[in-house]
Amino acid sequence: MRTLLAAGILIGGLIALEDQAGALDNGVARTPPMGWNSWNTFGCSINEALIKQMADAIVNSGLRDLGYKYVVVDDCWFDPARDSAGNLRGNPSRFPGGMKALGDYLHANGLKFGIYQVPVDKTCAQYFGSYPGATGSQGHEVQDAKQFAAWGVDYLKYDWCSPNGTIDDQVRTFAKMRDALAATGRPIVYSINPNSIHAKTGPQRNWGDVANLWRTTEDITNKWNTGQTNGYPMGIQNIVDVTVPLASYARPGAFNDPDMMEIGRGGMTDTEMRSHFALWAIMASPLIAGNDLRAMDPATTTILKNPNLIAINQDPLGLQAHQVSNDGTRRVLAKKLGNGDVAVALFNQGGSTTTISTTATAIGLAGDSFTLHDAWTNTVSTSTGTISAAVPSHGTVVYRVSGGTSSTPTPTPTPTPTPSGQPGGCTATYRLVNDWGTGFQSEVTVTNNGPSALNGWTVNMTLAGGQAITSLWNGVNTGTTGMVTVKNTSYNGTIAANGTTTFGFTANGNGSTAPTGVTCTTPTSQGR
Ligand code: GLA
Repeated sequence: MRTLLAAGILIGGLIALEDQAGALDNGVARTPPMGWNSWNTFGCSINEALIKQMADAIVNSGLRDLGYKYVVVDDCWFDPARDSAGNLRGNPSRFPGGMKALGDYLHANGLKFGIYQVPVDKTCAQYFGSYPGATGSQGHEVQDAKQFAAWGVDYLKYDWCSPNGTIDDQVRTFAKMRDALAATGRPIVYSINPNSIHAKTGPQRNWGDVANLWRTTEDITNKWNTGQTNGYPMGIQNIVDVTVPLASYARPGAFNDPDMMEIGRGGMTDTEMRSHFALWAIMASPLIAGNDLRAMDPATTTILKNPNLIAINQDPLGLQAHQVSNDGTRRVLAKKLGNGDVAVALFNQGGSTTTISTTATAIGLAGDSFTLHDAWTNTVSTSTGTISAAVPSHGTVVYRVSGGTSSTPTPTPTPTPTPSGQPGGCTATYRLVNDWGTGFQSEVTVTNNGPSALNGWTVNMTLAGGQAITSLWNGVNTGTTGMVTVKNTSYNGTIAANGTTTFGFTANGNGSTAPTGVTCTTPTSQGR
């Protein structure tokens, strides 16, 4: 009876997930998670006492009450051997109280428990031979997910750390743990890294159907610029270059992850560390500190506790700033906020102080009277439209701009049912997600109306004049202007009966006119 019930719950969970394939909507990470991770400072040298000290420091420093809740225990926490039943265990000399007790300690302190694991056979430290064993989750996904849930884990960092596998293998394999976590019934933030010692697949697709957070680059280091485009190790400027173009992927429950922060770890000037925090905040990135919280200097505390930037990062719309302009030196990013304000970052990538300017119109506001609140100095100024500041080399000035009216139109869904080869056919529903005047982001949801799973779909649509697709995910497009055809990718061709999948795209041009003739067809041979 118990088994039957468990199987029922498991199947129910899987069906629920399949129905909404294309969007992992597990209820968590509605805003970017905030917290601390052990790796940047301590690497493999971690133990129970250290993690508890860090938890105490988060509470005593006031960071917890500003939102830093997740304490993530990275690589090297586990016993190098599973038990006789194949279960993972904490390393008994490092974590003598066991992982459940550690989770209880964190929860009792108003914190949340994060842990590290891999989908392959060896964790990254095991792969590099700096820690014994081969305790990855490969073949143990369901068992490990249940174990994590039983320990009270709230956040799983799941790191590919292997040169093997295509991007489609990664999608399928990461999805196994996504489904195993969902089947436990415990809400667990699912944070993946497809890039470590692998082709950098993080920026190649929108991973929001698979995970809540996905790393966009190789590992960060505490340097401004390492000269890497996406290789080991990445500096702040290098990570920003990769992550800014992925802005359209961010939404509540799904965020680009430019890696744990290096603030307070040396290696950068105070201006650079402030810029690092400001850019992570406006990019709607997880704010996961990586420094030793027991020994923070006042400059570090000031940066990590900036309430204006935390509020911009945690805004309920969950949007990542999109790029307004970039001439190589002067980069302007703008993030629309839930109350109608817009946060704007004036980022100086050059070697000397320069004036960076934009306008209220360019960041999506209409009108002629605005208030600018400087996120670092709290200075308030007024403007009729110009937004400008003298910014030091590698610095970022952030203003919260209020006043005027938003020029973004209200999104209007336009369902277009169409006949097709499969009984019941499929329907394509277009939705404008975000429009910033010179560009926009949209989604198309494909619904299988038929009584059985369909295998393969094609959507046609005709874009309005002046619109041109710049990036499309979860689909393969032919054409970027006018009449465009989008077919499924290898991983979202199959849609269960009454299920859906969603592809998305960003385009240049004004998004206020929806495409016409949005139709969905399935292969004619199907269902016959
Ligand atoms: C990879 C990840 C890092 C860290 C280490 C642990 O390099 O990208 O963030 O988790 O593994 O070994």
